[in-house]
Amino acid sequence: YGNTGSCDSKITYLDGDNGILRHRGYPIDQLARYSDFVETAYLVIYGELPTPTQRKDFGLLLRKNAAVETQMQKILEGFPTNASPMAMLSALVSALPAYHADLATNNFEKDMKHFDLAAAIAISKIRTFVAMIYRYQKGLPFMFPKQELPFCDNFLHMMFSEPYKDYIAMPEVAKALNLVLLLHADHEQNCSTSTVRMVGSSAANLFTSISAGVCALSGPLHGGANVAVMHMLQSIHDEGDDGTRFIAAAKSGTKGNRLMGFGHAVYRNFDPRAKIIGEACDEVLNKLGIDDPLLSIAKNLEQAALKDDYFISRKLYPNVDFYSGIIMRALGIPMNMFTTMFAIGRAPGYIANWREVASNPKGRIYRPRQIYVGHTKRDYVSIAKRT
Ligand code: SDX
Repeated sequence: YGNTGSCDSKITYLDGDNGILRHRGYPIDQLARYSDFVETAYLVIYGELPTPTQRKDFGLLLRKNAAVETQMQKILEGFPTNASPMAMLSALVSALPAYHADLATNNFEKDMKHFDLAAAIAISKIRTFVAMIYRYQKGLPFMFPKQELPFCDNFLHMMFSEPYKDYIAMPEVAKALNLVLLLHADHEQNCSTSTVRMVGSSAANLFTSISAGVCALSGPLHGGANVAVMHMLQSIHDEGDDGTRFIAAAKSGTKGNRLMGFGHAVYRNFDPRAKIIGEACDEVLNKLGIDDPLLSIAKNLEQAALKDDYFISRKLYPNVDFYSGIIMRALGIPMNMFTTMFAIGRAPGYIANWREVASNPKGRIYRPRQIYVGHTKRDYVSIAKRT
């Protein structure tokens, strides 16, 4: 898959050599500076920046579909509280067709008729699911969404409010969360998005296809990297290392020692999202008055690696996961929930790619071929003759 165009797509353009990322033609640095997550989600899904009316209607559809059926809480109760948050999220998403059967018939023509509502449900409820998972793990009561709150404020409310005291997000916190989610909105044919297209190509409905994408995202080489980066930075901090030992181990080339948050399957230059998030780290932590030692460790590690021929020769630069965990920790989000945050951010990309598959009149089921390197023909041997 490294150099195979698996599909035609109009959603996101990546230039790995020059570190360029555009959604529907708009550069990511401009969207990060002027847009927000909900508007970028609309752009990624529908192909154009929304008019004021479209933006208002889309936001209202998201707010109206934030609440989750009470029975769905029982799905969580089937998991131990220390289960993988991504496993719980995938289970909840895969249950959506049972609650929205009319939107998920596994018939492209019928499902496309209800696409707008299904898309809003997916984006809004994945956000609510993540807050529910967090509350379930902590043994806290679920907080119902508030229709009057914007997307990120509502998420933070559902995460951190108490029955007796509402959590009111500081504007800086909501803005930082908007940025983190926006930067994850889509990223061409990454592992999990390609999974959504693969599953969707069988005419599986949107929710089922996204659930498969969530499973792919959970891997430490993909969406799980933001957690792996924090474990890496924490162990460097705890060992009192300045990163030297870690970089030496990373250069050994063994997969288990990799510098997490570094390298990328496409970028052979800086991941533009890493630059934006890295700059936002300083701003957010300063505004929140947080002095996180892991930020200075990350910066020192980045500087050391970028001067090291091992990384330079392999064109290994920081990717989106290198700094994202530091911001999410500053917002009070626990490390084990970082990958589920990635899923909230990536939902628009999954939806937009499923829509391209479902609405392609010439679409076919994805069925890659292989290079067969196994045995040539041989005849059966009865067990009596096997030694
Ligand atoms: C995401 O695809 C996307 O767009 C993904 C994503 C998205 O938005 O959806 O951008 C999100 O998944 C970002 C990546 C998060 N993962 C990590 O940070 C994990 C650490 N990174 C690596 O495991 C690796 O860089 C990958 C998995 C990201 C990319 O792997 P590739 O392209 O298959 O690279 P490779 O395995 O072919 O490595 C090439 C060389 C090898 O050395 P040699 O065999 O040539 O001697 O580079 C080395 C590798 O050993 N290498 C690393 C390294 N990454 C690659 N060495 C040390 N540390 C690393 N991080």
